[in-house]
Amino acid sequence: MGQATPFLLVLSLALGAHGLSDKKCSLIGQWVNDLGSTMKILAVNSNGDFSGTYLTAVTATTNKIQESPLQGSLQRRNQKGQPTFGFTVNWTFSDSVTVFTGQCFVHENGEEVLKTMWLLRSRVNNIENDWKATRVGINIFTRMASK
Ligand code: BTN
Repeated sequence: MGQATPFLLVLSLALGAHGLSDKKCSLIGQWVNDLGSTMKILAVNSNGDFSGTYLTAVTATTNKIQESPLQGSLQRRNQKGQPTFGFTVNWTFSDSVTVFTGQCFVHENGEEVLKTMWLLRSRVNNIENDWKATRVGINIFTRMASK
């Protein structure tokens, strides 16, 4: 065994490990979260702007749930993968707005996951009720199997 063999072994292991964590996350596609809500992101432009649709599985209202538009922004400065992003859902069936912020991670097995936090702002009738108008939570999105 030549002297170069252990070196090449270490090099290939390092490159292999780096290759795994370097897999880029793409927001484009269909996602489902831990509540069963789904979202579809159609395209991300060169500025990182994106749009799509959101179908929530739950609502804080008694209104009939309808698909709602989302507008977002993907951070493009970081080209190292696993980017941060934010998006707003403007609910078509309620007076509320939700903002999500999160990061796209890639598991060792290559599966992408979106770890997010959200603020849901509901409309209240007067300023005295402002204190109870905002809910906060987390959602974890995974990619839906493409049909
Ligand atoms: C509303 O009830 O006024 C609009 C629907 C809000 C749904 C919330 S947004 C945060 C959480 N994540 C979801 O997927 N749905 C709920």
